[in-house]
Amino acid sequence: MSGFDTSWLSLREPADRAARNPALLRKIDGLFAGRQRVPRIVDIGCGTGSTYRSLSARLPEAADWLLVDYDSALLAEASRLIARPEVKTLQQDLTDLETLPLEGVDLLTASAFFDLSSLSFCENLAARAAKHSVALYAALNYDGRIIWTNRHVLDIQIVRSFNRHQTTDKGFGEALGPMATPHLKTVLQDLGYEVLTADSPWRIGPGEEALHHAFVEGMVAPVLEMGDLDRASVQSWRDQRLADIDQGGSCLVGHLDLLALPG
Ligand SMILES: C[S@@+](CC[C@H](N)C(=O)[O-])C[C@H]1O[C@@H](n2cnc3c(N)ncnc32)[C@H](O)[C@@H]1O
Repeated sequence: MSGFDTSWLSLREPADRAARNPALLRKIDGLFAGRQRVPRIVDIGCGTGSTYRSLSARLPEAADWLLVDYDSALLAEASRLIARPEVKTLQQDLTDLETLPLEGVDLLTASAFFDLSSLSFCENLAARAAKHSVALYAALNYDGRIIWTNRHVLDIQIVRSFNRHQTTDKGFGEALGPMATPHLKTVLQDLGYEVLTADSPWRIGPGEEALHHAFVEGMVAPVLEMGDLDRASVQSWRDQRLADIDQGGSCLVGHLDLLALPG
């Protein structure tokens, strides 16, 4: 069990799909044009297979996918939802990268994953990807921006605490959090990759109240854990944020997508 439950992942999936940067997606469209060999793709931190569902229609139908996660419940749900023979799953803790199968792989994908990881994880993964000339598409890395249309006096302090929590250890050592994309970009460029990055923000507004509610509720525990604000202030902020959502308030949550092509 990873702490990412299927209901949260399915709630965020439509917002993630809408947010993916279209220019980078168009670049991916071109990656396999004219190739004879069946493309091989490995999706790390796959959850229930959101990346597969977003990308598969853009890639050759015969593409082989390997979906990797350490959470058996999420992998079981991915298999149930996708149910295609060319899509396999692998239960693996990615803190051990040595056995991640990358030989013959064309594209490594991930979404909402690299902000959980650490600099040393990025360095190890990038070195292994470079060794096998694998392209990398790392989408939807949180970039530290949360901006509500209707401001609350505590928003800045709340987001600052939340962002500090984003850098606490999520299993890989000190997490990169909002700095994931710039660090990953530098590491890949140093290995000779051509790296493109582009905005992919969530814009959560009317019609997406359930996601917005869950997102605000999900900020409370991390913010309290950091101890910068007292419980009563955080609860009062939360109550007013939820009331604002019910009155049509909207929010931008910043993300960045990255596409790295081997040199
Ligand atoms: C925010 S979720 C994103 C899931 C999916 N990519 C999506 O976009 O819906 C992060 C995923 O990373 C997985 N994960 C986190 N740490 C991991 C680790 N050490 N090894 C393997 N998977 C891990 C979690 O189980 C979870 O499925």
